[in-house]
Amino acid sequence: MKPKIFITRKIPEDILALMEEACEVKIWPEEDTTVPRSILEQEIREVDGLYCLLTESIDDSLLALGKNLKIVSNMAVGYNNIDIEAATARNILVTNTPGVLTETTADLTFALLMMTARRMEEASQYLRQGKWKTWSPMLLAGQDIFGATLGIVGMGRIGEALAKRAKGFDMKIIYYNRTPKPEVEKKLGVLYSSLEELLKESDFVCILTPYTTETRNLIGKKELELMKPTSILINTSRGGIVNEEDLYEALVHHKIYAAGLDVFDKEPLSTNHPLLTLTNCVALPHIGSATIKTRREMARLAAQNLITFLQGQQPPHCVNP
Ligand code: DGY
Repeated sequence: MKPKIFITRKIPEDILALMEEACEVKIWPEEDTTVPRSILEQEIREVDGLYCLLTESIDDSLLALGKNLKIVSNMAVGYNNIDIEAATARNILVTNTPGVLTETTADLTFALLMMTARRMEEASQYLRQGKWKTWSPMLLAGQDIFGATLGIVGMGRIGEALAKRAKGFDMKIIYYNRTPKPEVEKKLGVLYSSLEELLKESDFVCILTPYTTETRNLIGKKELELMKPTSILINTSRGGIVNEEDLYEALVHHKIYAAGLDVFDKEPLSTNHPLLTLTNCVALPHIGSATIKTRREMARLAAQNLITFLQGQQPPHCVNP
């Protein structure tokens, strides 16, 4: 008898077919709407494996319903949507999709940095709204990227990939991490710094650390006040790491120059969120890993994690032991 699984969103047909070969599959077939909690609560009772996205909250009360549940395969590298402790206590394996999205997410992070520094969204709106009357010496002048100091908060895979891009722009690169990484310092010529020094010194602060109870509100009023009025904050990790109310205050009072955000505390971001009223805030809808190739790779890896485990082998990327 094939193991039973539930997939919480439409995924590419060929990857779905792979799973259908190995498992008895039920799926929430929508592309743009999340599976209602009531349906998830019903489906999880029946299955051996769950294939989910970062949009589903996999908490203990949900896991408790999965009497046969043995694996939760998250189609994301981040897994803050899953209560890992509860899963471990219930002997449920959790897997994620690291590696395959590193370069794509670093690309988006650097693109957002450039877009924010050079005021590209504002400039494009300026033109479309018919405000462009003439070339003017200081019109839409932004900040230089070349030769500036980049501070990376969280030197993991994506941090390293971002540092490589920044080297091409002759940037000085400093980083803060829970534990210093001498091998990365040697390989990439980056320098370890305390968070406080990094915030004081950097022209660009890029948040790439995972979201945990320790990193929630890591950047708030006090930290933003350490930054220079010409500095830019970029966040492509998770929203809750930066306190949005404090960020709004810092931006509106020009305590920092600008922010580029791909992630928010509550997603989707409401269109009447105060941050969206600011021209010095560039906001994107969590598209860090959104290229066709990378999203396919993530979907495939999540499927591989699930199938390998249900066939009795160790999946490539376990989050809990
Ligand atoms: C992840 O994988 O955690 C990203 O946020 C989505 O690509």
